[in-house]
Amino acid sequence: MTSLDSAAGSRGRATDDAQAAATPFIGGGEAMQAVARTIRKIATDDAPVLITGETGTGKELAARQIHHASRRRDGPFISLDCGALSPATLPAELFGQERSAFAGTPGRAGRLEAANGGTLLLEEIDALPAAQQAGLLRFLEEGTIERIGGLEGIPLDVRIIAATQGDLAQAVQDGIFREDLYYRLNVLQLALPPLRERGDDIVALAEHYLRQFRPGPNGRAVGFSEAAKRVMNAYPWPGNIRELINRVRRAAVMCETRLITPADLGLERRTEPRDHVPTLAEVRARAEVRAIHAAIRRNRGNIAAAARQLEISRVTLYQLMDKYGLEKDRCLSSDPVAWKN
Ligand SMILES: Nc1ncnc2c1ncn2[C@@H]1O[C@H](COP(=O)(O)OP(=O)(O)OP(=O)(O)O)[C@@H](O)[C@H]1O
Ligand SMILES: [Mg+2]
Repeated sequence: MTSLDSAAGSRGRATDDAQAAATPFIGGGEAMQAVARTIRKIATDDAPVLITGETGTGKELAARQIHHASRRRDGPFISLDCGALSPATLPAELFGQERSAFAGTPGRAGRLEAANGGTLLLEEIDALPAAQQAGLLRFLEEGTIERIGGLEGIPLDVRIIAATQGDLAQAVQDGIFREDLYYRLNVLQLALPPLRERGDDIVALAEHYLRQFRPGPNGRAVGFSEAAKRVMNAYPWPGNIRELINRVRRAAVMCETRLITPADLGLERRTEPRDHVPTLAEVRARAEVRAIHAAIRRNRGNIAAAARQLEISRVTLYQLMDKYGLEKDRCLSSDPVAWKN
């Protein structure tokens, strides 16, 4: 836990606040201590923030921490997942809808207006359609928005935090994200490391969530076996902290001994828990890991040859190896999908 908790505990109004206060930010390790320092600095300013990180790495939690440590803490914290709404509903959801006497529809405020005086988190910002990119750019430049169907500029005071799992710079290169908006959003940056790179924080997080889930008198599990700790440290966690929470929750229920085993976590060698429905991200990550591993073995560790076979650049291959924590030597000597107990 970091000293950010005290910052997060110093206010308290809406349910969002209660939720943020109830979720401590676990991260005593070096990587997360650096993140905590960055969050504290970002909270002293009012410029837009771009948070990057794989799925489930805590982008929303970090955005809440920034809000609660900022001068806006008594204002609203509102979030909108740009990737979750259809292009038909997103515009009005973000900018609001002007009353239409003709269509007989009442006017309503969007999330930007709802966030006035506070912070708006835009998740999956790369999914924002072009027209709304323009509207958001205008807000960032002029501080006003127009409701859909409206003509009047509405002045607002909202801090924008954008989040993405992907590479927004690449989206700019691919022509699907406006460059001017990218530079407007990318003033302050926060990069959240994947769980597999967080060292001792992995077990600390698991222990924290086990304390939360241990169900009353029947809950036997008081901790994790050494084998379970080892397996948690070796597993690549494609779903990151969200996946860890789900595995620990299940283990807390299923465990029949005092110490949770790798099997309780569904992380025993080569087996997949029957009731675990893998996310698309997990499936993709595993497929990528397998393909990279196989290519490196097939080419006896020759990275350039492996990259050619995979039809990606060497740089991309190194980036992927880095992302999944794959080392050439370990690829040559082991099976990465068989997480050793
Ligand atoms: N450092 C942390 N300490 C404790 N819990 C955490 C931490 N980081 C994330 N969590 C928890 O992990 C879960 C996922 O976090 P969050 O929703 O913020 O991730 P995200 O990056 O926004 O995910 P997505 O990419 O899917 O939108 C939440 O339940 C959150 O409370
Ligand atoms: Mg999120």
